Amino acid sequence: MSKEVTSYVDAPLPLDFGPLLVAWQRRHGRHALPWQNTRDPYRVWLSEIMLQQTQVTTVLAYYERFLARFPTVLALAAAPLDEVLALWAGLGYYSRARNLHACARAVAERHGGEFPRSAAELQELPGIGRSTAAAIAAFCFGERVAILDGNVKRVLTRLLAFGGDMASAAQEKKLWQLASELLPASGIEAYTQGIMDLGATICTARSPQCLLCPASDLCRGRAQGDPTVFPVKTKKLKRGYRENWWLWLEREGRVLLQQRPDTGVWAGLWTLPMYEDEAALQEAAGGAALEPMPRIEHALTHFDWVLHTRRAVTVATGEPPGGEWVARERLAEYALPAPLKKLIS
Ligand code: ADE
Repeated sequence: MSKEVTSYVDAPLPLDFGPLLVAWQRRHGRHALPWQNTRDPYRVWLSEIMLQQTQVTTVLAYYERFLARFPTVLALAAAPLDEVLALWAGLGYYSRARNLHACARAVAERHGGEFPRSAAELQELPGIGRSTAAAIAAFCFGERVAILDGNVKRVLTRLLAFGGDMASAAQEKKLWQLASELLPASGIEAYTQGIMDLGATICTARSPQCLLCPASDLCRGRAQGDPTVFPVKTKKLKRGYRENWWLWLEREGRVLLQQRPDTGVWAGLWTLPMYEDEAALQEAAGGAALEPMPRIEHALTHFDWVLHTRRAVTVATGEPPGGEWVARERLAEYALPAPLKKLIS
C-alpha cells in the first residue's frame, strides 16, 4: 500500500528547532568520535569523505590507519595513488579515494598546503560537494552554513512535513533554502553535529524514536501521523543483476592480478582476471584443469553481482595485458576489492 503524503504548506518555520538542537547535542549528542574535538580541517575532511555512504563503525578503523600512514594533507599529496587505494580497499565507492588524493594535491598546489577556510572555496576542491564543504567550514571555522546530506534531508523533510519530491532539483533547492533559514544564530558546530546525530540515532529511516526526539513537539511530520512518509522520492532505483567468472590463476606460487580501468566499478583496484562466461574463462586458462572456488555474491549500489570463481594452475609464461603475477603472501599489499580479500582469507 502506498503511503499518503500531505504536501508542505507555507507555514512559518519552527525557528526554535536550532537552539533546541544545540542544547540537545551538547547534552545527549556524540562527543567522543575521533574526528571530533579538533578543528584540523585535514582530519575533519578525511572523516567527512569516509562517512559518505559508510557507517561510523566501519569508518573508525580505516580512519586511524589512514591518519597513521598519512598524518598530514601534504603526506597524502606526496603518496602514490596506488597506496591510497590500497588503504581505502574495502570501504567502497573508490571514486572517493581518487578524489581524496586529487583534493590533497590541489590543497598542496593551489593553497600552499592549507585548506581554504570558507565553504564556498572548499566546494571548489575535488570530491567536496556543497554539504561536505559546509560541514568542514562549520566544524573547523565556525561558518554559519547549512549541510544537507541524506540523513539531514530525512530530518528536515519530517520536521517540516516537506512533501516535495527529492528527485526534483527544484524541490531540493527549496529544501536547501529552508535548511539555511533554520540555522541557529549561534552554536553552528553543535547544531551541525546535532542534526547528524539526530539523523543517525533517532530520526532513523524506518523506525524513528520520536519519544526520544528533542524536536518531537515541533515535528510536523509526526503531527500528521506518520513521519516516515518523508522524504518523498519518486524515482525508484532499479537494481540490476550481473554474473561474471573470475579466474584464480596460479604459477609457481604467484597469482595473476589485473588492474581495473580508471573508471567504473572498482576503478584502479586489482582483481582476478574476469570473464563474461565460463567458456571465455576456460579459454584463458589454456586448457588447465579448473577447480571450483566459493561463489561470491556482492551487492553494489546499482546491481547485485554474482562472481563464479575457478582456480587453475599453469606453467604458461605469457602475461596478459595489464596483468601482474603476485606472490600469494604479497597479495595484501595490493588495493583489492572487499570480495577478493574475503576469497583470499
Ligand atoms: N556522518 C557524517 N559526518 C559525520 C560526523 N561528523 N559525525 C558522525 N557521523 C557523521
